[in-house]
Amino acid sequence: MTEPTAPYVLGKKPFLYVVVCASGIAGDVGTLITAAQERGWDVGVVATPQALGFLDVEAIEAQTGYPIRSVWRKPGEARPLPPADAIAVAPATFNTVNKWAAGISDTLALGILCEAYGMGTPVAVLPYLNAAQAAHPAYRQSLERLTGMGVLLGSHEPHRPKAGEGADHFRWTEALDLLEPKMAG
Ligand SMILES: Cc1cc2nc3c(=O)[nH]c(=O)nc-3n(C[C@H](O)[C@H](O)[C@H](O)COP(=O)(O)O)c2cc1C
Repeated sequence: MTEPTAPYVLGKKPFLYVVVCASGIAGDVGTLITAAQERGWDVGVVATPQALGFLDVEAIEAQTGYPIRSVWRKPGEARPLPPADAIAVAPATFNTVNKWAAGISDTLALGILCEAYGMGTPVAVLPYLNAAQAAHPAYRQSLERLTGMGVLLGSHEPHRPKAGEGADHFRWTEALDLLEPKMAG
């Protein structure tokens, strides 16, 4: 049996939030969940409301053992997920990257991401978008702001508009490679 690479804290597995946005490749997020579990993480999924339509909710909830969170709980309701030790935003959309950088918090996913900075929670982001979206000046500024906040940025390059290509090369596990060194100690 291979040793998990992510650290255990007091015998408890670290808890990873996978924040999923409404991108065409969101349906493959099970790849990241499986890899994270194999590497010693417990996983909970937070989806944007738009992303829910791209996901097999039942399959993901069976895989993680937790409900997918997408909206805020009601006051007094129990927290459906344990607190996050780290967060992977994968895939991250143009929309969510720009809103997160601007401090907009109008989805639960954005609320969690906006608070992560102040909480000191390590965050890795794997954007998946096309080159026409990436050409917008706001996008470059958003990435600069987020990386300046310590957010770890994946290496995937934007694909050609309307092509939807690059999905085969999307390295889901890069989020874990970026986060795990931050968990040491
Ligand atoms: C089939 C489909 C695929 C999409 N793929 C992407 C994508 O890969 N990247 C992206 O930034 N937006 C993509 N979009 C647009 C987003 O879904 C849209 O901007 C949405 O508002 C994002 O919401 P969210 O950031 O709250 O998840 C896609 C839309 C559709 C209908």
